[in-house]
Amino acid sequence: MTDPLTPVLTRNWRAERSWSLAAYEQAGGYRALRHALTAHPDQIIALVKDSGLRGRGGAGFPTGMKWSFIPQGPDGPGAKPKYLVVNADEGEPGTCKDIPTMMADPHSLIEGCIITCYAIRANFCAIYVRGEALHPIRRVRHAVEEAYAKGYLGKDILGSGFDLDIVVHAGAGAYICGEETALLDSLEGKRGQPRLKPPFPATSGLYASPTVVNNVETIASVPHIVAGGSEWFRSMGTEQSPGPKIYSISGHVERPGQYEAPLGITLRELLDMAGGMKDGIPLKFWTPGGSSTPLFTAEHLDVPLDFEGAAAAGSMLGTTAVQVFNETVSVPWAVMKWTEFYKHESCGKCTPCREGTYWLVQILERMVHGQGTEEDIDTMLDICDNILGRSFCALGDGATSPITSAIKYFRHEFLDLIAAQPAVARPEQLAELSGASA
Ligand SMILES: Cc1cc2nc3c(=O)[nH]c(=O)nc-3n(C[C@H](O)[C@H](O)[C@H](O)COP(=O)(O)O)c2cc1C
Repeated sequence: MTDPLTPVLTRNWRAERSWSLAAYEQAGGYRALRHALTAHPDQIIALVKDSGLRGRGGAGFPTGMKWSFIPQGPDGPGAKPKYLVVNADEGEPGTCKDIPTMMADPHSLIEGCIITCYAIRANFCAIYVRGEALHPIRRVRHAVEEAYAKGYLGKDILGSGFDLDIVVHAGAGAYICGEETALLDSLEGKRGQPRLKPPFPATSGLYASPTVVNNVETIASVPHIVAGGSEWFRSMGTEQSPGPKIYSISGHVERPGQYEAPLGITLRELLDMAGGMKDGIPLKFWTPGGSSTPLFTAEHLDVPLDFEGAAAAGSMLGTTAVQVFNETVSVPWAVMKWTEFYKHESCGKCTPCREGTYWLVQILERMVHGQGTEEDIDTMLDICDNILGRSFCALGDGATSPITSAIKYFRHEFLDLIAAQPAVARPEQLAELSGASA
C-alpha cells in the first residue's frame, strides 16, 4: 500500500538531469519493459484492464478495453499493420501536465510506448506533439535517440524479437488537432478536421489501419502498472477511477503548478497543496478539467475530483486542468475570453460549431462592452442548445460549457452588466438618430 501522496508519475521530476536515460535507468527505468517482454502481449492487456486505468486525455475511456479492440488476426500477407499514436497536443486551456512530463521524464513516455506497442502488436508509434512546444519536441526526440542507441527501440528489442520504431511528429498547432481523428488526418498530412465515427480508430485509424490513440499521461502510467501490478495501482484513487493523476493548477493560487494526487482528491485539499488562494482573496469560480468542463464555485470545494465525482456535481473531470479565479474576476469577461478561443479554434467543418461560436462571441463582446440586453442571455442559451450534441465533435460541446454553467451560477453578473450600461447609444440607435436628423 503506497502513501496516497507519495508521487508515482512525478517521482523522478526533481532528479538531476531527470530527462536523461542514465537518470531514468538509475531510478529503475526500463525494468518494467524487460519484465513486460517476458509476458504474453495478451497478459499485458489483461493487466492494464485489471488496473482500471482510464484515459487521461479528457474522456476517461478504459485503456485496457481500448487496446483490446485492436483486431488480432493472423499476421500473414494482407494483414494490416497496427499503430500506436500518442496524443501530445495538450491544447485544452489550463492543461499543463503532458508538456512537463515530456520535459522532465520523457523516458517514462517512451517506455510506456514500447510496452503498449508490444501489447497491441504494433511496430510503429507516432508521438504527435503540438507544434509550438518546441522544447518538448527536442527533448522527446533526444530521448528517442538515446533509447535507440541502448537497444530499447529498433530491431529485436532486448533480444525479444520485437521490433519498434518511434517517430516524434510536430503538429502545426491547432486545438482541433487534439481531437483524435483530426489528429490522425493531420498526421497523414491532411488538414486537421475530425472524421465521422464510426469507424473508430481501433478498426480504421492511421492510414485506415487499427490504431490506438492515447494521451501522454495514460501511456506514461503503463510502466508503473507493469512494475507495481494492478492491485497496487488500484490502491490509489477510487474504485471506478483508480490511480494517481497530475492536476495542473493555475490562476489565483499562491503556488501554481503540477500537483500529483490520487484521483478523488478535492479542490480544498489541492488548494492546501498549492499554498491557498493568492493574497488570501476568496475563491469565486474554477474549472475542474479545463475550460471545456462546466464551471464550479466555492460551493464545490469538497467535490471528489474523479470521473464520477465531477460528473455527479454537474461538471466533468476533463484533463484535471484546475483554473482558479478569485473574486476580482468578472465571470462574463472570462467566459468571453474562452469563447473567443473556441471561435478561433473551431475548424469550420460543421455549421453548429462554426456559426454558433461566432454568434456567441458577438453577443458576449456586446454584453461585456455594456451593450447587452436581457434577451441576449436567452439567445446565448438557445445557441448553446443548438451546438451541444449537434456538432461534429466535442469541441462544440466544450464551447458551450463555460457559458451555460456561468449563466447557471452567475446569471446576476450578466444582469448587472446589462443594468449598469452606460448612457451611451447603441450602434443601431445611433444609426436611427442620424437617419432621423437627415
Ligand atoms: C477539441 C478536442 C481537443 C482534444 N485535445 C486533446 C489533447 O490535446 N490531448 C489528448 O490527449 N486528448 C485530447 N482530446 C481527446 C482525444 O480526442 C482522445 O479522446 C484522447 O486522446 C484519447 O486518449 P486517452 O484514452 O488516453 O484519454 C481532445 C478532444 C477534443 C474534442
